[in-house]
Amino acid sequence: MKIIPIRDAESLPIPHATTPDGPLFDRRGRTVRDLRISVTDRCNFRCVYCMPREVFDKDYPFLPRTQLLSFEEIVRVARVFVARGVRKIRITGGEPLLRKDIERLIEMLARIDGVELTLTTNGVLLPRMAQTLRDAGLHRVTVSLDGIDDAVFRRMNDADYPVERVLEGIAAASAAGFEAIKVNMVVKRGSNDQEIVPMARHFRHSGHILRFIEFMDVGASNGWKMDEVVSSRDVVARIAEHFPLEAIDPNYAGEVAERWRYVDGGGEIGVISSVTHAFCASCTRIRLSTEGKLYTCLFAQRGHDLRSLLRGGADDHAIDDALAGIWTQRDDRYSELRTAATAAAPKIEMSYIGG
Ligand code: GTP
Ligand code: 5AD
Ligand code: SF4
Ligand code: SF4
Repeated sequence: MKIIPIRDAESLPIPHATTPDGPLFDRRGRTVRDLRISVTDRCNFRCVYCMPREVFDKDYPFLPRTQLLSFEEIVRVARVFVARGVRKIRITGGEPLLRKDIERLIEMLARIDGVELTLTTNGVLLPRMAQTLRDAGLHRVTVSLDGIDDAVFRRMNDADYPVERVLEGIAAASAAGFEAIKVNMVVKRGSNDQEIVPMARHFRHSGHILRFIEFMDVGASNGWKMDEVVSSRDVVARIAEHFPLEAIDPNYAGEVAERWRYVDGGGEIGVISSVTHAFCASCTRIRLSTEGKLYTCLFAQRGHDLRSLLRGGADDHAIDDALAGIWTQRDDRYSELRTAATAAAPKIEMSYIGG
């Protein structure tokens, strides 16, 4: 079966709002604090839960270059968001380090005062890029790694990348001066759940923060089934059998991961429970796709086309007006409403919107 990318569906209209400057509230009283910017829909991995090889093959219609927002366009949008309260910008992909000259975008975004600038990567390009990214002004990195056993990891990324390569990437990031590096492991029952305890063992006492993410029903191609989700509660129990854990407070209100620390001082882990313990009530995130569509939920079916506005000569006031209109209309809480029927509905792909 050929899957038609959902982005080809008609965009949502951009609602108009003339809101006085100041924080924006959506229909559930949530403000906009985090902007996630996807800079490419391509990736050198084919993770089984994200870009299954049968779908993302050589005929897959990835976005052509002309459709991508330019760095100047991205920065313009980012500035308007920051003026409206965004305090964290995360660069995502696909694999964001595949975007040509990405360090130039980092440099441009780093000049915006008052925001934390972070990036999520699969890590294989970090050995040669970590120092450049750090020098460009990136504050933090998160690296995805789905197992510490080489055979399991190769099966998960389905592109034959060895674990060693990602570990080198993490080490390079550390050597470049990045601190409290987060390592994300998506747990899929029957595929890599046997790696939960070995991953915990490996990253204890490393200074890095390992986070376990429940397998989610994003996109239309990963064949998600509830049976394949290992709950965060189960993850914590499995680890605590070997290394006792205690819960700790969030770093900030609305933090996605719940934090636990090893009682013996081995550091902390996080669990992200989008399926079994939804965190929509405090969701302050908005996502900008590679081609300039704004999505107010990871599970959205349609986005708002900002690129036409940008290329149609809109001034910053008009962009701000568009953002205000979109955010104040927002009512999303997909994970709170998830059912078997919603899970089966087509949604945007994670590789397109960046998680
Ligand atoms: P930091 O605390 O700054 O590191 O950010 P974070 O916890 O948001 O981390 P990150 O952006 O790496 O998010 C981790 C993962 O959580 C993502 O890759 C997604 O899989 C999941 N996630 C993040 N935001 C959302 C969200 O809004 N909804 C859902 N359902 N999942 C999310
Ligand atoms: N469920 C949960 N997490 C996912 N990610 C990608 N696809 C899924 C999914 N279906 C994770 C990646 C990465 C982050 C961007 O999102 O592994 O850590
Ligand atoms: Fe690429 Fe990340 Fe998706 Fe894996 S999860 S295929 S590394 S975008
Ligand atoms: Fe936010 Fe949508 Fe995720 Fe809920 S499901 S936390 S509204 S992105």
